[in-house]
Amino acid sequence: MKLFGFVISALVVLSVFGNNCCCAEKVRYDNHTVYKVLIENENQLTIVKHLSTLAKGYNLWKPFHGIGSDAHIMVSPKMKNAFDSLMELNGFEKEILVENVQSLIDEESSSFERDATFGWTSYHGLDKIYAWIDEIIEENSDLITPFTIGKSYEGRDIRGIKISAKEGNPGIFIETNVHAREWITSATVTYFINELLNSDRAEIKNLRENIDWYIIPVYNVDGFVYSHEKDRMWRKTRQPVKGSDCIGADANRNFDSHWMENGGALSDPCAETFAGPKPFSEPEAQALADFVTKIEDKINIYLSFHSYGQYLLCPYGHSATDFPSNYEDLLAIGKSAADAIKKPYGTQFTYGSTGSVLYVASGTSVDWMFNERNIKVGWTFEFRDKGRYGFVLPATHIKPNAKEAVEGVIALVQKSSDLGYLKNKRVN
Ligand SMILES: *[C@@H]1O[C@H](CO)[C@@H](O)[C@H](O)[C@H]1NC(C)=O
Ligand SMILES: [Zn+2]
Repeated sequence: MKLFGFVISALVVLSVFGNNCCCAEKVRYDNHTVYKVLIENENQLTIVKHLSTLAKGYNLWKPFHGIGSDAHIMVSPKMKNAFDSLMELNGFEKEILVENVQSLIDEESSSFERDATFGWTSYHGLDKIYAWIDEIIEENSDLITPFTIGKSYEGRDIRGIKISAKEGNPGIFIETNVHAREWITSATVTYFINELLNSDRAEIKNLRENIDWYIIPVYNVDGFVYSHEKDRMWRKTRQPVKGSDCIGADANRNFDSHWMENGGALSDPCAETFAGPKPFSEPEAQALADFVTKIEDKINIYLSFHSYGQYLLCPYGHSATDFPSNYEDLLAIGKSAADAIKKPYGTQFTYGSTGSVLYVASGTSVDWMFNERNIKVGWTFEFRDKGRYGFVLPATHIKPNAKEAVEGVIALVQKSSDLGYLKNKRVN
């Protein structure tokens, strides 16, 4: 332990002189390597916990949930020697997932917004997505009603659309890209919207005709813009934190449901899963909560799109051992969705409660909607992949990922309906 203490302090000292640049230019990730490390004992768990809260030189890509799980950690080239020694001294098994993150980012940039018109062979920034939303609103004024849930910290509109073909439908809410760097999520939801509006497939026509859809294609707008303009690996909001140089909170740990319980979020403002100084400290989280509260009786299912890892996660997030009373139903719904997702390309998704299947995460939007807003079907989708590309999933994956997601949503809705969850909640 003495040795471990020494190595940790050396890492902290080194990290102060890390090469994070600040100002005008984009953050680069030359020779930043993503490792998968297995956590097999208490000592290793302590070390990984420590690494994951150091802001500089380390960045947690995939959190871990205790002994027996693995973490994906991006390590800067300056920290590599120290990291290697730490891993070796403490008997970690590790493997490289991404050798050089910058080369993935460069490939992605070379195809950015390549589509002449809006499409799904390249990623798009916020302006392009909002321009496309304006277009579809105009072309489908009979079906779409735009809405805005409020403004982000930096004053951007957080926009959404409601797609409704008739009065009295049950409702499904989809919120996407709360984590800024998870670009596949907004790319997928726009594909899904396009299918909803245009597909002739009976299953999709059924979704268009018989469900009211409330969709926020880019929820964390500030973070998303920042991930395009400054730092591809940005996750959190952009609101400064009093008393810290680190910016932003994890909006998906900021909802007032079991906030900060069971280690499901961190109080360190520099951590990727910083819960915020208090529940709903982030204007984005507060705006979404207020908006859904107003239409609570119209929403039967709540979905939140994330990447990566290939999981379907339902409540609870705040505990690994506590399960909702309708967990059997949720598992049946999860199984239907996972089976459907697998059909087109064989992609395997694992389903179950967030806390038991992946990691304890408290204060998430899905849990808040479930616990505080009586929306009893709630799912987080963690899209492709398993770590080969992680957040920098090549644009060639957009369509396949989106097609799988469409199948998953169709099955999820069907099973929820079979189990009675799409009944009209409104007391007339
Ligand atoms: C990345 O690593 C390679 C091989 O060690 C080295 O030649 C190159 O200079 C490094 N690039 C940067 C920008 O540090
Ligand atoms: Zn996420």
